[in-house]
Amino acid sequence: METSLENLLKAFVTSQQRITVLTGAGISAESGIPTFRGPEGYWTIGSEAYRPQEMATQRMFLKAPLAVWNWYLYRRSVCARAEPNPGHRAVAGMERLFGDRFRLVTQNVDNLHLRAGSTPERTFEIHGNIFLMRCAEACSAALTPVPAAFDDWPRDREISSGEAELLRCPRCGGLLRPHVLWFDEVYDEPFYRLTTTLAAARETDLLIVAGTSGTTNLPNKVAWEVSRRYKAVIVDVNTDRNPFAALAVRQGGFAVTGTCGQILPEILALFQAA
Ligand code: APR
Repeated sequence: METSLENLLKAFVTSQQRITVLTGAGISAESGIPTFRGPEGYWTIGSEAYRPQEMATQRMFLKAPLAVWNWYLYRRSVCARAEPNPGHRAVAGMERLFGDRFRLVTQNVDNLHLRAGSTPERTFEIHGNIFLMRCAEACSAALTPVPAAFDDWPRDREISSGEAELLRCPRCGGLLRPHVLWFDEVYDEPFYRLTTTLAAARETDLLIVAGTSGTTNLPNKVAWEVSRRYKAVIVDVNTDRNPFAALAVRQGGFAVTGTCGQILPEILALFQAA
């Protein structure tokens, strides 16, 4: 790691400045969770194969709710079988070190950050969480865990009528839906912490962006808000080049090429040694 980055990280520890970590699918890739963008993400309904961008939509849920649930229940079981990796654990270690100076913004719905020890209070799941569900009619904002009856859901299993009753809202009798942001929906505060996330970005002095390609707009807004803050620094951690790396370097920050599982523990070790 560059000496100038090492010095910056060490100096940060004794400052009273604030740090935000922004993560994407890349941090969970080493836990074996596919981004579902490749062939493994395709889902067949009848004779049609659909891409995640088509499945993860309110439009598809209204058309074929149980088929969308089948896809999420399968993905939920893949996430449940995965384990947090050193990258997730390093992020939780940074939160323990910095306390309220720290915030985590994650696009991942796999729950691995919380299982690694990151706290719900300082973790903003801006795309939701695949282990939670809520009323599709929005009769309330209550989030409830997806029942254990759906654990280990195999790829080709269909929901029975009895099991479908477990996906009914206890208040209005309508369907429950996965608590996940769909491609044809927008960020908001109650479910996806939009306002809270942007407020945190405006107070951030050090932004560590880890394992994201920058394809979604709230993460880009976070990086842009930080880039406007006087003397704030962006550090991008990625195996490939991406828009955050270019912004970081343009702003006098750093683009570190490497895996989350390798680089984030190195950054935590530097913080701890300061
Ligand atoms: N370490 C660091 N970076 C990695 C690693 C790794 N081990 N593996 C992959 N990457 C990088 C890739 O180079 C890429 O830039 O992580 C990024 C993953 O990009 P995407 O798959 O596009 O994931 P993400 O940026 O989180 O996608 C955003 O789009 O699919 C929707 O809502 C979904 O939350 C998702 C959002």
